Amino acid sequence: MALPRHIAIVMDGNGRWAEARGEPRTAGHRAGLEPVRATIKECSRLGIEALTIFAFSSENWRRPQAEVTTLMSLFMEALEREVAELHVNAVRVKVIGDRRQLGVRLQQRIAEAEALTAANTGLKLQVAVSYGGRWDILEATREVAKEVASGQLRAEDIDEARLSAALQLANLPDPDLFIRTGGNHRVSNFLLWNIAYAELYFSDILWPDFDAQALANALADFEQRERRFGMTGHQVSGAVSGGPSA
Ligand code: IPE
Ligand code: IPE
Ligand code: MG
Repeated sequence: MALPRHIAIVMDGNGRWAEARGEPRTAGHRAGLEPVRATIKECSRLGIEALTIFAFSSENWRRPQAEVTTLMSLFMEALEREVAELHVNAVRVKVIGDRRQLGVRLQQRIAEAEALTAANTGLKLQVAVSYGGRWDILEATREVAKEVASGQLRAEDIDEARLSAALQLANLPDPDLFIRTGGNHRVSNFLLWNIAYAELYFSDILWPDFDAQALANALADFEQRERRFGMTGHQVSGAVSGGPSA
């Protein structure tokens, strides 16, 4: 079976899941933790190299203060509770996003979790918190611009590899499969640069209901896709699969 090397997921639909049950939206966020656990476990079991999950966008700061506060305490709680088990399962945890926007204690916990799991060789898990694709590209641009300003790099030598290396997902293969739950067909400022050639998969399932079967369905769909990377169908069916440079 042709598995993606890297899966990116927009975990959407928590609020609607809760509202449909007459519960506060935050109950949906809490219920969304179990599918996160299950998805990590399943990706590890399948030997998938990387998983990047969208937990909180740079735009989600616009939500009611009470919901934002609850989400931040949920991250804290989940980190404290899950990190030991992730470590035992050899998961390498990283948080991507503008962490300066987060509380100091949360920033500390994140740094600890990353340090603890840094040498792990299992699933590479990226949790996007206060993340925006445009922010990511802007930050990378600033980094590269500084090198140009200091004379280390010539503007004409800036290439895709240099900019990629300055992005949050540096040193990871681009996501091959982009999953969004919750029924909306949009990217919502997730990994804009890195999903240039990702296969997009949209599911009406609300995130708290996403389970191993739902993931298997997405993987089965992915397996049916013909990835052409700009070439013709004849070219790719005759060639060994691979990216644009393969
Ligand atoms: C996704 O669920 C979680 C976050 C954005 C933090 P939502 O909270 O967006 O749920 P819906 O889309 O309102 O149902
Ligand atoms: C995208 O969901 C962000 C996360 C899942 C964390 P949103 O619910 O914020 O997306 P929009 O606002 O409906 O596009
Ligand atoms: Mg939503």
